[in-house]
Amino acid sequence: ICPVTTQTQPMMNPEQGNQTPIAEFILLGFGTLPDLQILLFLVFLLIYIATVAGNILIVALVVTDQHLHTPMYVFLGNLSWLETCYTSTILPSMLASLLTKDRTISFSGCLTQYFFFGSMIATECLLLSVMSYDRYLAICNPMHYATRMNRRLYLQLAGGSWTGGFLCSGIITLSISQLTFCGSNVIDHFLCDLIPLINLSCNDPQLMEILAFTLCLIFLVVPFLLTLMSYICIIATILRIPSSTGRQKAFSTCSSHLIVVTMQKAFSTCSSHLIAVTTFYGTLIIVYLLPKTKILRDLNKVFSVFYTVLTPLVNPLIYSLRNKEVKKALRKAVRLNSSNLADT
Ligand SMILES: *[C@@H]1O[C@H](CO)[C@@H](O)[C@H](O)[C@H]1NC(C)=O
Repeated sequence: ICPVTTQTQPMMNPEQGNQTPIAEFILLGFGTLPDLQILLFLVFLLIYIATVAGNILIVALVVTDQHLHTPMYVFLGNLSWLETCYTSTILPSMLASLLTKDRTISFSGCLTQYFFFGSMIATECLLLSVMSYDRYLAICNPMHYATRMNRRLYLQLAGGSWTGGFLCSGIITLSISQLTFCGSNVIDHFLCDLIPLINLSCNDPQLMEILAFTLCLIFLVVPFLLTLMSYICIIATILRIPSSTGRQKAFSTCSSHLIVVTMQKAFSTCSSHLIAVTTFYGTLIIVYLLPKTKILRDLNKVFSVFYTVLTPLVNPLIYSLRNKEVKKALRKAVRLNSSNLADT
């Protein structure tokens, strides 16, 4: 909060003479494509419905099925719940603006949207790193997994991700609220995001950019590196399996078999996690950390659609359609419901 220079009385600023502070913003969104408004509305509406339905289904399965009360599925349930909230901070307002063609958003509305959107992104970064750490322990340390990833730890890790996400976003939002906006109020984006807002403020952008960059580094690059390290270790371990099982056979066939089975099970969940992490971090890094050349700036909106709209949609698909235990839980739930219907 401290590094941001505040100008609480913009009217006093001699350079901005007769300008009044901005009370609302205009979110251009997809306004540059006037012919496609209805089509875009329908596509995004379908995406929104599918995203919420898929994620809520996973949350319901994880909460109700006793077999899914393990760390990995508690994290997955939290991730699905997070994705539901995440799309709900973006898509409803986007749909409304596509339908009504009213592109204005009040200053406080914009800040509120950024606060929730930022919280969700930061929480997702933290939760994905926690999940990588969980997979790392499960694969690289299968024998000690149960004791290390105990109930207390995984509840703390999940709770900590949410707290950290909201805290971080709260700090940034507070800083933005101290900025002065006096020039143009047009945001060429479909949501109130940090960089466009900084670009619009007439304060010295450098301090805000340093703050944003530092937070990006903490919340994006560190979890990304953590994830990468987990995967390097995971791959190294898997490459070692044949020789180590051969070696361990001499000692105890049983324990080595247990290791292989545990690992194979853990690995099948890993590959889904890897796909999710790569798309999420890949697009985030492109949008936030790469230099803003003209062509990248134009592509920004497209990449943003990836991590804001498509990641929440595909996450339930890649996690659950490829996951035996989730499928089993789903089948059980369907069978239970149909037999209940038959009884009545
Ligand atoms: C999310 O994590 C918390 C622990 O902090 C847990 O109690 C809760 O059940 C999880 N939510 C879901 C939907 O799995």
